[in-house]
Amino acid sequence: MKLDVHFTPAGLTLAEVQGRTVFVIDILRATTSMCAAMSSGAKAIIPVASTEEALRLAQTIGLDDVLLAGERQCLRIEGFQLGNSPLEMTAAAVRGKTLVLSTTNGTKALLACQGAGAVYPACAGNLTLAAERAREALDVEGGMVVVCAGRGGAFSLDDAYTAGRLMSAALGGTRGRRGLNDAALACLDLVRRYGESWERPLRRSRAGRELARLGFAADVEASAQLDAYPVLPVFQERRVTLAAVPV
Ligand code: MLT
Repeated sequence: MKLDVHFTPAGLTLAEVQGRTVFVIDILRATTSMCAAMSSGAKAIIPVASTEEALRLAQTIGLDDVLLAGERQCLRIEGFQLGNSPLEMTAAAVRGKTLVLSTTNGTKALLACQGAGAVYPACAGNLTLAAERAREALDVEGGMVVVCAGRGGAFSLDDAYTAGRLMSAALGGTRGRRGLNDAALACLDLVRRYGESWERPLRRSRAGRELARLGFAADVEASAQLDAYPVLPVFQERRVTLAAVPV
């Protein structure tokens, strides 16, 4: 069994993800917003690195079906229809639409994983479905990789705790811990420290405090809700769509 966690996507090489199942976590807030949008009926999400690329792509696809979404310094990009809040991703706003999304760290983390076998955005909102897929990945050669978006190229508590929750749900009580890298072990230690409630690590994290200061405390609370957005989005061929979930 092989399970590697990366605290940030910085320095991630193709060899580390190629052919493997990858989970990308930016719980505050990009991967939570993606799960919220997909659970509200968005057709697809196209993550892009820059505002310019988002505008270019929207022109190409045709503006009728497209919503421009994203943030810089947590605030909606000027001229875009949506920011990066899971609470904005209502059915009325996104159903049937393709979102072109650009966020500071989260979309970059997804884009850094191109070449992987499959890439799943994960958060508290889709933990159970993501953990089921993670369990399957652990049973096959290659195992799984968790890539935390982090903040500005550095460790983030909110993402690392979420990585620990995903792993402990996937590992259960029966599997050994051999095959985990040190970052994975540290994430499991965070789960032992904070226990089962997402609120504390999210509120304590730098991202959580910053969002509260900017008036997004409700987003932090929404992002802490287990299985609030029960979908399994997958990033493949440059877009996020819903993955087939076995019945
Ligand atoms: C990011 O991608 O850096 C975050 O999702 C920022 C945010 O919460 O708006």
